[in-house]
Amino acid sequence: MTLEQYKKEDMKLLYIDDEPRNLELFSIAFKREYTIFSCPSAEEAFNILKEQGEFPVIITDQRMPDMQGIEFLKRIMLNHMDTIRIILTCHTDVEFLIEAINMAKVYRYVVKPWSKEELSLAIKGAFSRYFLAKENKMLIDQLKIKNLKLTQTIDELKHAQAQIVRQEQKAVVGTLARGFSHKINSLLNPIALLENIKDEASEKDQKNIQLIYDGRDQIAALIGEINAIANNELVNFLIDEHNLKELVDYAINLAKLDLDVKYKKIVTEHGYEGRIMADKRKLTLVLINLIRNAAQAIGNSNKGKILIKSEKQNGHARISVIDNGCGIEKDKIDKIWELFYSSKGEKGGGIGLDICKHIIKGHNGEITCDSERNRGAIFTFSIPL
Ligand SMILES: Nc1ncnc2c1ncn2[C@@H]1O[C@H](COP(=O)(O)OP(=O)(O)OP(=O)(O)O)[C@@H](O)[C@H]1O
Ligand SMILES: [Mg+2]
Repeated sequence: MTLEQYKKEDMKLLYIDDEPRNLELFSIAFKREYTIFSCPSAEEAFNILKEQGEFPVIITDQRMPDMQGIEFLKRIMLNHMDTIRIILTCHTDVEFLIEAINMAKVYRYVVKPWSKEELSLAIKGAFSRYFLAKENKMLIDQLKIKNLKLTQTIDELKHAQAQIVRQEQKAVVGTLARGFSHKINSLLNPIALLENIKDEASEKDQKNIQLIYDGRDQIAALIGEINAIANNELVNFLIDEHNLKELVDYAINLAKLDLDVKYKKIVTEHGYEGRIMADKRKLTLVLINLIRNAAQAIGNSNKGKILIKSEKQNGHARISVIDNGCGIEKDKIDKIWELFYSSKGEKGGGIGLDICKHIIKGHNGEITCDSERNRGAIFTFSIPL
């Protein structure tokens, strides 16, 4: 905006001079262009400022009986930072000017007696500078808001892009799982031949054969779950009655086939060990995943321990898998549930917890995690009894 576009009531200026004649002359010279407030002393000027608030321009005489112009300008510095200041003076010595510019932030000094032309130019310059600074400030504020909105949009875009990538990855996993599940299942078929020798096998081998069967079942369940996650399905849940303690022990035995778990100390504490309604294969898969994660979090620490606790609460069975491993940083605690999120590099696919979430959801249950860095982790799921 040019200066001419501003209204007269916006062109407010305060003029302070102890000589009444000067106040009069000033008013005659400038009252048509500006809204003038004037007074003969600094004390009165303070009151006007209190009542009127910010002035774009203040013009003060330097030599006044109650307070010098520079002193007055210095005093109002803090509360009227944006005001443009002009000083009227007979002094032209360097020291005075340095103080005026540096300490009182004076924009122009005009030597008395002033000529209308010179003062008019100084006042115009002062208003231009004031309004320009205000416009700049407004533009910067608007820019800041736009920037913020832009950052938000970029974040949303990144989020959407990540979703799309995840969807695509899911689709690829789904295609692979479908293709492989058939092949893997047919490769697992020969295991059934063990049936022919099972009866003649020693008791120990019979146990081993059973473990092989159970392992085969878990592979089939795992492939089924990956398939189901890729297709966003909650299908093939065979909910049946099982004994909780037996199911936990069964899962621990199977989890121990994994070398990461095999030599870890696993303790159970059953506050509830009765009947639960669950899909045995799927719930076993949940427990194996949680136990594996706990074992991997413990790593090589010889103080590592995994505790599996169960209890009955509000018609639900609550099972916690607790470890004293590396724990999870606060800012990662939500991320761990995202499909393909893994902190384990080549050792992890980031699928385990998604499988757990999916299976627990299929049981109408809930799964949560409580953890802190270097403080271990507690994964708890509950399913209706
Ligand atoms: N008990 C735990 N202690 C510390 N971090 C854990 C624990 N359980 C899970 N996490 C963190 O959550 C991430 C995701 O776990 P998730 O089981 O989904 O994938 P993963 O174990 O990395 O790979 P996958 O299970 O597919 O082999 C892990 O990479 C790890 O950072
Ligand atoms: Mg895992």
